[in-house]
Amino acid sequence: MDKNALRSLSYGVYTVTAWDNGRPTGCTANSAMQITSSPATIAVSVNHDNYTNSVIKELGKFAICVIAEDSDAAVIGRFGFMSGRDTDKFDGIPYSVRGMMPVPDAACAYICCNVVDTMETATHTVFLGEVTDAGVTRQATPMTYAYYHNVIKGKTAKNAPTANF
Ligand SMILES: Cc1cc2nc3c(=O)[nH]c(=O)nc-3n(C[C@H](O)[C@H](O)[C@H](O)COP(=O)(O)O)c2cc1C
Repeated sequence: MDKNALRSLSYGVYTVTAWDNGRPTGCTANSAMQITSSPATIAVSVNHDNYTNSVIKELGKFAICVIAEDSDAAVIGRFGFMSGRDTDKFDGIPYSVRGMMPVPDAACAYICCNVVDTMETATHTVFLGEVTDAGVTRQATPMTYAYYHNVIKGKTAKNAPTANF
């Protein structure tokens, strides 16, 4: 099997957010995609070890916040290499509440979802979310995962589904 084929799949870069008993938290994810348009439905794959996984399960909601090419790369790192289990990730990160969900100012768009189904793999939960609100917060170019690797020179995180490839 040539695993390079898997590297040719395209992704974006997102902050997946939720409320942890009233405290905003979340993690970086590349594995989000639209599943259907009517009703608009999004899927995102979140590792069982990510604190965000249990927070989304408890809350039953999540937001996909679209990171842009001009976003502060520190946001990707903070949400992608630290854990909300022992860090207040939004501390010092400007954000607003959109569709009742926390959205970092670094994002250029957001999509809020109610969890309507989940699928468990050996390592990840795939959350299926029906879109309840969405908006473009500023004009910017959404970051691709390829841009993150090639221009930002970002590292692959161990919990990203793509990590082994
Ligand atoms: C660019 C990038 C993409 C990532 N993609 C995913 C992903 O799709 N799914 C996932 O479970 N973790 C992904 N991660 C790893 C999580 O963001 C990371 O494990 C994070 O520390 C979890 O934080 P938490 O414990 O607060 O939830 C990614 C990290 C980076 C930097």
